[in-house]
Amino acid sequence: MINELKKVAIVGDGAVGSTYAHTLVVDDLADEIAIIDLNKEKAFADSLDLLHALPYLSASPKKIYAADYADAKDADIVVITANAPAATFDGEYDRLKLLEKNVAMIKSITKSVVDSGFNGIFLIASNPCDIITRLVAEVSGFPKNRVIGTGTLLETSRMRQLVAEAVAINPDNVHGYVMGEHGNSSFTAWSTVAAGAKPIKEIEHRLPSYVQMDQKIREVGFDIFERKGNTSYGIAAVLARISRAIFRNENVILPVSTYLNGEYGQKDIFIGTPAVINRDGVRELLEMPLSDEELKAFSNSADILRKNFEQIAD
Ligand code: 2OP
Repeated sequence: MINELKKVAIVGDGAVGSTYAHTLVVDDLADEIAIIDLNKEKAFADSLDLLHALPYLSASPKKIYAADYADAKDADIVVITANAPAATFDGEYDRLKLLEKNVAMIKSITKSVVDSGFNGIFLIASNPCDIITRLVAEVSGFPKNRVIGTGTLLETSRMRQLVAEAVAINPDNVHGYVMGEHGNSSFTAWSTVAAGAKPIKEIEHRLPSYVQMDQKIREVGFDIFERKGNTSYGIAAVLARISRAIFRNENVILPVSTYLNGEYGQKDIFIGTPAVINRDGVRELLEMPLSDEELKAFSNSADILRKNFEQIAD
């Protein structure tokens, strides 16, 4: 599936797209990076700037350039980070508020990418991520395993960081998943969380309450957004992590936005769920045993996503 020389096309060279491009260079994940943006001058400037970083990084030689949709043709991964210019939260912190403004733009981007002859994996960070991912899947007609949203991988990072800080351990040793909507109805499946092999229940006396932690995990993105107008490093690292899983055929389990076909009692929906990622995209879902309360939270998230998708469906 993956070409010998790994190629990524990025659609949207804003804070997220450009930070992701930088992460690809620093982590030496791709050989060719095509940057597509309405503002071609910005894409051109970023491509030069990134090339100037190369001699001082231990990265292999790369082609990095301002691109057109035609350049997506032979990409392994097309990453969509674009948001419509008017799509901001306007003080109402709910990613669903961005939906209406992003729909037409995302449809047009998807069609242009597909028209190029692209036949790789779509990776989506645009918000509201789960609904936009489903939209890209439907408009492109691609197999569902080849359309992946960043989902709750970012919330999961926020959870791991929070728990790690409270217990003073490395976040690498905090396991488990935040699931559901990448948004205000996400929830931590606490029954899946462990520090090393120690179930979270056994260290909960050292942590803030679950309710407090869940609230923090849901709101911290907006704490960032309020202060700098976007979030970039976290989501760029999430995109890079999924890209690495694809390029290195890792078969790693990551909670991404993926298509459910009966798992957790849900069908026909893209939602944050642990899935095995490799060079084919989503290889399979590994259904986690959830408590009744967690299943209820999952179904609440699914209902919200379904309802919002119906509102934009033609
Ligand atoms: C984030 O959670 C705003 O979706 C973006 O960082």
